[in-house]
Order: sequence, then C-alpha cells, then structure tokens
Amino acid sequence: MKIETTISGVRAALRQARKAGKSVAFVPTMGNLHQGHIELVSEARRRADFVVASIFVNPTQFGPGEDFDKYPRTLEADATKLVDTQCDLLFAPASSEMYPDGRSQVTTVQLSGITEILCGARRPGHFTGVATVVSKLFNIIQPDMALFGEKDYQQLAVIRRLVSELCFPVTIIGVPTVRADDGLALSSRNGFLSEAERTQAPLLHQTLCQLRDAVQQGQRDYAMLTGAARAHLEKCGFEPDYLEIRNQDLDAPESGDGKLVILVAARLGSTRLIDNLQFETH
Ligand code: PAJ
Repeated sequence: MKIETTISGVRAALRQARKAGKSVAFVPTMGNLHQGHIELVSEARRRADFVVASIFVNPTQFGPGEDFDKYPRTLEADATKLVDTQCDLLFAPASSEMYPDGRSQVTTVQLSGITEILCGARRPGHFTGVATVVSKLFNIIQPDMALFGEKDYQQLAVIRRLVSELCFPVTIIGVPTVRADDGLALSSRNGFLSEAERTQAPLLHQTLCQLRDAVQQGQRDYAMLTGAARAHLEKCGFEPDYLEIRNQDLDAPESGDGKLVILVAARLGSTRLIDNLQFETH
C-alpha cells in the first residue's frame, strides 16, 4: 500500500491506476480504524479494482469545545489494518495540505434543511465542514464510487444530496452498521467510555429495537413512544440530544410511510454516541 500525504502525490499515484483502466473506490475516514471502517474498505475491495482510503481528522467539522484535540490519532496501527484489507493507497494529509489558508478559506459547501435537523441542530456548522471536506476529497481523488456507513445516517443522506445536486460523478454506496456482539455500534468514540459506561452503552441499540418492535406491532403515537424511551434513557444515565422517528428521507413520517428510521444521539458521561435503526412497518 502506498501512503501519500500531498495532493500532488495522491493524484500522481491515481493517474497510473486510471491509465491502466482501473475503477477507483474511495473510503474517507478520520482514522482510529475499527471493524466498521474496515467493512467499508472490504466492500470497496469487492467492488473496484483500486481502493483508496483517506485519514484526515477534519477540523472544520468540529465545533468549539468538541473533541477535535482529543480525537484519537493512530496512523501506524491504521495503516497496518489497511494493508491487511488490501487497500491500495492511503491519503493522509496534514491540515495545512487540506486547508493551506487555514481558517481563512472562504469557500464552503452548505446544504440547507437537511443539515439543520437532528445532529445539525445540535452541532451547528458540522455538516458544512463534512460537505466541504468531502467535496475537496472527491475533487482530489475523483473516485468512481465512494462508500459511507449507515451508522452516520444523516451524514450519508447529506452526501447523497450533495453528490446529486452538485453533479459529482461519484456513485455513493451505503454500508450497514457494524456492531459489537452486545449491539453497540462500533465507533472511534467508544474508546472514551469508562468500563461502567461501556456496560451501559448497548442500551441505546436495545431502545431502538424496542421502539421498532412497538411500531411494527401497530403503535403509531410516535411522540408518546419516543418520549417514554427518552425518559427511560435518562433514568439509565444517558443525556439524550434527540430520539426521533422519521421516514427514510428524514422528513416527519406520514401515515402512508412504510419505511422508517429511528435516530438517537445521547451523551453518556462526556461521550456523545449516535445510532439509528431502519425498518419497514409492513
Ligand atoms: P469517521 O467517523 O472516521 O467514519 C468514516 C466512515 O466510517 C463513515 O462513512 C462512517 O459512517 C463509517 N462508520 C463508522 N462507524 C461505522 C460502523 N460501526 N459501521 C459501519 N460504518 C461505520 O464520518 C467521518 O469519519 C467523517 O465525517 C468523514 C466522512 C471522513 C469526513 O470527514
């Protein structure tokens, strides 16, 4: 696996792959790779001739007071995992390579509506940071396809919208959430949990499953259901940011919507966890 830290280096490496007629799949990450990330790379490996991953802890998607400084940076271990997954090229730029103008970069990619709900409402500017860095990465790598986890459901929806509306020639592929045996969605932030919190954390997924079961059994008072589930999470030590049932386009569900998603974000101690569950009502 080649490792490149500059835009010119990564472009040169990709020119060779393209000249050989290879299809290119891209997996953007912020590193500290776990089995969820690796599943994206494995799926990329199955679908394309040439697999590119990026590791960049993108400062513009973190708000003031968020965990940018303490976000785990484990490049060496990550590179080993990528080699084991037969990744062809790793792009691991420094901040100065991606944002040479630092905070004075004046171009941003901002989506309205979809970025103002759920995580966007609690993390203002977060999805602008994501959409901007992903646009830059797409322009640098120019992949045929890019893979994103369903774990970050709203992020995947934002990326799909961005690619469709700005006509990026990239096919977006969503990959199902990889979970620990006890149901907790794998996340780089799980490492911040204390032992006691880690024992408590699977309750998040259990709550989503119970809500799904209730809806599938015919209950339709979503406000009552989510209110009760929220209260239960609070009683168990979580501080929920939101717990909502939406249709799979993230609009408020109407009675005819058969495909729904339940989304949750909650703090456990100082760690913010998110999860979601897609299901059909009939
Ligand atoms: P990061 O949190 O590192 O996640 C990189 C990719 O891995 C995302 O597409 C995310 O949805 C996926 N992923 C994380 N945990 C997963 C799990 N348990 N199962 C399946 N997929 C999982 O998301 C980001 O980085 C950044 O916002 C990024 C898109 C790289 C832009 O900076």
